[in-house]
Amino acid sequence: MQEKIIQLKQEILGQLKNIKRLEVLRGLEIKYLGRKGELTKILRSVADLGVEEKKTLGKLANEIKLELANRFAEVKAELEKTVGASYVDATLPGEEIKAGHLHPITIMQNEIEDLFASLGFMVLDGPELESDYYNFTALNIPPLHPARDMQDTFYIDHKNSKGELDTLMRTQTSPMQIRAMQKYGAPLKCIVPGRCFRSEATDVRHEHTFYQVEGLMIDKGINFSHLKAVLEALGKKLFGPKTELRMRPKFYPFVEPGSNGEYSCFLCSGKGCRLCKNTGWLEIVGCGLVHPEVLRAGGIDPKKYQGFAFGYGLDRLVMLKYGINDIRLFHSGDLKFLKQF
Ligand code: DAH
Repeated sequence: MQEKIIQLKQEILGQLKNIKRLEVLRGLEIKYLGRKGELTKILRSVADLGVEEKKTLGKLANEIKLELANRFAEVKAELEKTVGASYVDATLPGEEIKAGHLHPITIMQNEIEDLFASLGFMVLDGPELESDYYNFTALNIPPLHPARDMQDTFYIDHKNSKGELDTLMRTQTSPMQIRAMQKYGAPLKCIVPGRCFRSEATDVRHEHTFYQVEGLMIDKGINFSHLKAVLEALGKKLFGPKTELRMRPKFYPFVEPGSNGEYSCFLCSGKGCRLCKNTGWLEIVGCGLVHPEVLRAGGIDPKKYQGFAFGYGLDRLVMLKYGINDIRLFHSGDLKFLKQF
């Protein structure tokens, strides 16, 4: 019996030397030390022996069992080390590379650019850091004009030759009307999507950083019907072919007459609902015929050329379209929000 045990031990130790893979080691462990393993069976039969034999053999058997268990653990640790470093299972699924996607505001901006490009408008980009002159004065909003109060912004700590703070983060895309006229002259058709800034106390509808799209068309004999046709095309593109436009008078210093373009509510088709505050209409776009002073600031003679302009909040459109109730989500970097688009 004793010999049998020792022989088995040698056999097991011998086999352990050549093991290269964890599965084989596990198989061997089951074969010898498992519940029905060969060594286990022998050890169990020790119980049937006489008292004296039991004493000596029992001790030996337990020692061998322990020694083998330790050896198995050693070999296992050894294998795990090398396996971790070099073993590649080419059949495992690869790590997924997550591709990002466009921000909802960019998606909407692209749609709008496509529409206006198809109508022959240039798509322009303008500086976010503007001068007081372009952002206000040239747009018929001189210093101390009350319209400035509605557009408080971030001033840059830089004084001009007169000692005035004259550099600011633009509050609207409208200054690009002047820059575009100066650069391209008349006739002219362009839109300007871009980021704007205001010193707002932020809440669900106000954010210090937001997006606008400006539109400008200058040519001989431009009148309100041209503006209306373009805004109708925009409404149908944004909210569907049945969308209607209505225009109500509104004051903006850089247009005369000025107007507010409203679209029939896409949610209730004009019947009245929560989205349109039961009016059936959504206020979307400020617009009008370009003020002669503004044409002059752009270097264009208002006797020869006329124009229309419009401007609206891109964030607001995206909020309406997707039912987003907090403008601050756009810049929150919250993946739970962003992944929905
Ligand atoms: N810039 C205006 C604003 O931020 C929007 C606007 C109104 C733009 C009328 C225009 C316009 O071009 O004609 O509130």
